[in-house]
Amino acid sequence: MELLMQKLCMGKDLGIHGNLFGGIMLAWIDEAAASYAAAICHSPNMVTVKIDEVNFKKPVKIGFQIRIYGDVEKVGNTSITLNIEARKYNVYSAEETLVCTTKIVFVRIDEAGEAIPIPQPVRERYNAT
Ligand SMILES: CC(C)(COP(=O)(O)OP(=O)(O)OC[C@H]1O[C@@H](n2cnc3c(N)ncnc32)[C@H](O)[C@@H]1OP(=O)(O)O)[C@@H](O)C(=O)NCCC(=O)NCCS
Repeated sequence: MELLMQKLCMGKDLGIHGNLFGGIMLAWIDEAAASYAAAICHSPNMVTVKIDEVNFKKPVKIGFQIRIYGDVEKVGNTSITLNIEARKYNVYSAEETLVCTTKIVFVRIDEAGEAIPIPQPVRERYNAT
């Protein structure tokens, strides 16, 4: 998996239990994955169509770094599916712990918001095995 984004868990990101708020984590994942999908598909016009089941496996406390990783699961005609992992990083021990996993699907759209094909070379690159 590739490192897509790093964030620092700050006070403003916490929920009432003192853990990183789930909705903040989802926003980070969506942003990191959208940026990755745009780069892979050579188009900034990628919209999120589905975020799969999200498993929050471990709490994240203030001061931890969050590293968001991703890879391409598949590229369809107009859609791309990414596997995403968020890991917390302990700067003292350099240890990474998996905190959250999901899959996320983006669709390439035109100016009218209609789905349009992802460029053929991208589809061939990720589907040729
Ligand atoms: C993205 C959008 C244009 C797709 O329109 P649509 O009529 O569903 O288009 P299609 O049925 O042709 O599907 C387009 C692609 O998305 C995929 N797709 C659509 N819904 C999906 C779902 N729930 N799960 C997985 N893939 C899905 C289809 O399989 C298809 O992929 P393919 O071309 O690679 O085979 C439309 O759903 C939309 O505008 N959604 C809102 C996007 C948005 O605002 N996102 C921000 C979230 S707040």
